[in-house]
Amino acid sequence: MMDNPLVSLATISLIFIGAMLLYQGFSYFSNQFILFQKEPLYNQSNFTNNVEACGDTLDCALAKASMEKKTVIIAIVNRAYVEQDVESETTMLDIFLASFWLGEGTRSLIHHILLVAVDQIAYDRCKFLKMNCFRLETDGVDFKGEKIYMSQDFIKMMWRRTQFLLEVLKHGYNFIFTDTDVMWLRDPFTRLSKNETEDLQISVDAYLGDPWLERHPINTGFYFVRSNNKTISLFEKWYGQKDNSKGKKEQDVLFDLIRSGIIRHLGLRVRFLDTLYFSGFCQDSRDFRAVITVHANCCRSITAKEADMKTSLSDWKRFKKLEANSSVSPKWTSHKWCKQSWGRPLKVKD
Ligand SMILES: *[C@@H]1O[C@H](CO)[C@@H](O)[C@H](O)[C@H]1NC(C)=O
Ligand SMILES: *[C@@H]1O[C@H](CO)[C@@H](O)[C@H](O)[C@H]1NC(C)=O
Ligand SMILES: *[C@@H]1O[C@H](CO)[C@@H](O)[C@H](O)[C@H]1NC(C)=O
Ligand SMILES: *[C@@H]1O[C@H](CO)[C@@H](O)[C@H](O)[C@H]1NC(C)=O
Ligand SMILES: *[C@@H]1O[C@H](CO)[C@@H](O)[C@H](O)[C@H]1NC(C)=O
Repeated sequence: MMDNPLVSLATISLIFIGAMLLYQGFSYFSNQFILFQKEPLYNQSNFTNNVEACGDTLDCALAKASMEKKTVIIAIVNRAYVEQDVESETTMLDIFLASFWLGEGTRSLIHHILLVAVDQIAYDRCKFLKMNCFRLETDGVDFKGEKIYMSQDFIKMMWRRTQFLLEVLKHGYNFIFTDTDVMWLRDPFTRLSKNETEDLQISVDAYLGDPWLERHPINTGFYFVRSNNKTISLFEKWYGQKDNSKGKKEQDVLFDLIRSGIIRHLGLRVRFLDTLYFSGFCQDSRDFRAVITVHANCCRSITAKEADMKTSLSDWKRFKKLEANSSVSPKWTSHKWCKQSWGRPLKVKD
């Protein structure tokens, strides 16, 4: 009975509030439902977990680092690239990674780098950085010290890397191979040709004006290769030269293979990359607004590279501070440590 008007008012209010709550609750849940349907976060997380569980095999490592179309970025590190000298406050790997942070559109690429460690310290450092790591074992060889240009160990390590990269191609992955003395200032995939008939796109020390000219001085410190039968054959031929190319590094061997006509022989399409975009200390990019990568090539020691790379990153930061409409065209600071590195006795990281 609702004789008391106050009681009935209260009751009506309660019913009203109840209805409101019910309605809000319903719309809350239906929103949740819609959200759930719109954003299947679950795919991603369970994909990661699946991969996490499959250990450190190459297949897993590649799957974990891969972007769409089975493509990864591969860099190889040893102790000398990850461990600080007593008197230095940085490492090659740190500078390499700093470039991904400072570059334009390069930050998310870090998830697609597979860092291949040739010794335990490099592997531990990689794990510490929570990157995608792969431990490359080599029987009976210690790759942990700095490998001086063209020393026996330097050449051995180079060949091991060619063999490993052949494996990656055989697993069906396209990849960018990058040395860690290459600074990534913009996303290379915005500039590399997307035409799938182009099997190999490789950087050069000096660009000769025609992307198809085979006598370019190639640089194997940065290239993009697609996985197919032709490129697998190329890497097999290349690695096959290991034992009859005394004193030559793998880059020279590939150069010689190209000169002797392997591109036509295998029906490959190889594009030589313009240093306007894919530049280095041998030939600076003419344009800060176009540059994609800067390689510390034409340089003999890690210490000299580190010093000049830091300077180049400062140049880049100065460029980024300019107004978009600025007409100033900045210049790269001279790479003085690298220039001197050829003439003086080396202080080597051990
Ligand atoms: C999630 O999985 C569904 C069904 O397998 C698929 O249709 C959808 O594209 C996936 N979403 C993402 C973001 O991967
Ligand atoms: C995620 O897990 C579910 C259930 O275990 C499975 O059916 C589904 O295929 C998995 N999705 C992916 C992308 O692995
Ligand atoms: C790729 O390059 C080839 C050879 O130049 C050309 O015939 C083909 O049309 C190109 N494909 C695309 C998708 O641009
Ligand atoms: C590559 O070679 C294998 C074995 O000879 C063959 O099965 C496969 O179809 C070839 N793939 C392409 C893309 O030509
Ligand atoms: C450049 O643009 C900024 C803001 O867009 C403006 O304040 C400045 O005056 C411009 N400078 C020149 C030289 O046009």
